[in-house]
Formats: sequence, C-alpha cells, structure tokens
Amino acid sequence: MGWKGVDVISIMDFKKEELELLFNAADLDAEDSKPLDGKVVATAFYEPSTRTRLSFDSAVKRLGGSTIDLNPGASSIAKGEDFLDTMKMLDSYADLIILRSPSEGAARLAAEICEHPVINAGDGSQHHPTQAMIDLYSLKKMKGSIGGLSIGIMGDLKYGRAANSFLFGLGVFGVKEIKAIAHPSLRIKDVNSLLLNEMGMHISYYEELEEVLEELDVIYITRVQKERFSDPAEYEKLKDAYKLDLKALAKAKPGLLVMHPLPRLNEISREVDSTQHAAYFKQAAYGVKVRMALIRLVLGE
Ligand code: NCD
Repeated sequence: MGWKGVDVISIMDFKKEELELLFNAADLDAEDSKPLDGKVVATAFYEPSTRTRLSFDSAVKRLGGSTIDLNPGASSIAKGEDFLDTMKMLDSYADLIILRSPSEGAARLAAEICEHPVINAGDGSQHHPTQAMIDLYSLKKMKGSIGGLSIGIMGDLKYGRAANSFLFGLGVFGVKEIKAIAHPSLRIKDVNSLLLNEMGMHISYYEELEEVLEELDVIYITRVQKERFSDPAEYEKLKDAYKLDLKALAKAKPGLLVMHPLPRLNEISREVDSTQHAAYFKQAAYGVKVRMALIRLVLGE
C-alpha cells in the first residue's frame, strides 16, 4: 500500500513497514519546503480536544497549508443538518478532512462518502490511530525500539480509545505480552481482547500497580473517561482508583518511561513531572512532527 490518498481510520489498517516509513518521515524536518502551499485541510471536532486539534492545525500551517474549522456549535449542525451532509460539504471545500466524533464508526462512514482522505482523530471509545502513531514513535525515540520491552498499561482500558489504539499498534509491531493494571470493571472490552489475541498478544491483568511496577520498562496511563459513563456514580467510584506518585516510583526501574496521551487528571501526581520518568509532555510535542509527516504522506506532497 502507498500512503497517498489513504483514509486513516484504525492503526490496524497499517503494516509495520508502513508505520516505519511514517516514523522515518517524521524524523526529517520538512518545515522549509512548505509542500502544502495552496492546500486546505478541514478540521471537524464533535468532541473537545486540545492536543489533537491544535497539533493538526499547527502541522498543516507549518507545512504551508491552511485550515478551515467546522465548529459544530456554530455551524448548521445546530440547525439540525445531519452528519453526512456536513461531511459532503467539507469534502467539497477541503483536500483532507480530520474528524473527531463521539460515535464509533463515524470516521469510516465519512471516508466512504468523501472523495478526499479522512483522518480519524478519535471515534468514541474505539480508535485514535494518530495518537497510536505518536505513542509508538515516542516509544521508539525514547527507548530505541518498540519490541523487547516490558510494557504495562493502566487506567480505563474499557473506554480509552488512546489506550486501545496503542495496544493495537503494539500488536502491529508484534508485541506479545502486555501487563494491564485495571479495575475489573474497566478491563479491555471482549471484542478488543479478541482482536488483540488474534494479533498474538497475551494480556495479564493486575488490580494493583505495586504488583508489577518494578518489572516494567514502560507504563502507559490513561484517565478514566468520564464522558463514556452512563452512571455518574460509577465514574465517581472509579475515577481515582489508580495513581502514580513518587512513593510508587521508588520501586521502579531507573529507566521506566511513564507515558500518557493527556489530558491528565489525578492519575499521575504533579511531582512525577520533574522526574526522569515523565515522558508525556515530550510525547505530546512529538504530535506535531508525526502529524506533519502523516499529512505529507496522505496528500502525497
Ligand atoms: C485522548 C483522547 O481524546 O482520546 N486525548 C488525546 O487525543 N490526546 C485521551 C483522553 O481524552 O483521555
């Protein structure tokens, strides 16, 4: 598969070699050449976003392109216009559409009706492929490789699309063992567990971080996804179930990498930020580089 014109819907749609090509492209600094001169990229975020929205916007502008933003609250969606009509309009105004939606499958549906490529910037609790690309790239940059590491994942594995996409991405890279630290009610959904098992991944569960932290080279942490809970009391019960603080880190390997897609709530205490373990702000900063490379490949520029 070439990259030009592809829709980016799930990290599982890509092969390891294609992702490696993306990472190599991200290593090249392409800001000088302005390959997107004259191109327009539409962003449509039906859910809140800081990093994904702004790093895509920054990436397009650094490449010399321009962006138009569908602000759902200020658009005809507020008058009742439906999703497909809205997507058709964006398709006629832009060369590329970047979409975030609360509905699983929305990006795939948009890709079916749009002639221009669609990049999924998060759909419900399922896919967030560009976050996975950034996370895998960060792992490679900071640890030198994606394989051969003891990787733990902690937090909301049921609803966290970033966590699930990271796991799918690790599966693409042939990672076979994952240690998952989660409350029993926030474990990976069966449908995703099956997909991961089919990729050859075995997941061991732990209820307490201290059972496993000292073995880990990497811990990927996510917030409990408040917006996906139908019962607010259930969220309140689980929201502070896991926390990484200095006390817990005392047991960690010196090289332990603490990753998080952000936003962070209370699951990593602020005091961790100044330790050598904190990788999350660097990870977020890589977002611009990786998204620049992705846009260049998809637009064939
Ligand atoms: C994540 C998301 O929106 O899924 N954020 C992001 O894009 N970096 C994670 C989250 O909201 O918890």
